[in-house]
Amino acid sequence: MKKDVLDITDLDETRLVELDNYIDKITGDPEEELIHVLHFAQQQFGYLPHNLQRYVAKRLDLPSATVNGVVTFYSLFSEEPRGKYTISVCMGTACFVKGADKVLERILELTGSEKGKMSEDGLFTVEDVRCIGACGLAPVLTINEKVYGNVGVEDVDDIIRQYKRSGRRED
Ligand code: FES
Repeated sequence: MKKDVLDITDLDETRLVELDNYIDKITGDPEEELIHVLHFAQQQFGYLPHNLQRYVAKRLDLPSATVNGVVTFYSLFSEEPRGKYTISVCMGTACFVKGADKVLERILELTGSEKGKMSEDGLFTVEDVRCIGACGLAPVLTINEKVYGNVGVEDVDDIIRQYKRSGRRED
């Protein structure tokens, strides 16, 4: 039978050392610390690919399925690389009836990305989300921490252009 070997050669070594140091300092129950470890790992690597999840499982002596269960349960964790800017378009009822689907469509077009996948230039990850509790401002979207309200399709070009410009300038 073929042995399932954990290959972590594609993971950055310096970041792995940081992660190891973090895990080495843990004194509590590994299962209770798991969320903190995953959070730290995601900060280091930007996302949580499967081999990294398995590495964390091995280091904490937990089943891989437990680690993957936590990663897939919490929306703050991502198994895919993320763009520098996460654009979340609200698809709750209030936003949807005011044209959020058209806004989303235009954003995907302008960023050249597929929903949930990082754009090729590494700048954007576009996703749809459920009501974020700002229905009075519908349609609403957020870009990282910033909230945009009453966004029409006609506003999207300016917003995206601005992020493309500042994203590239900082590179
Ligand atoms: S439906 Fe969009 S904020 Fe509530």
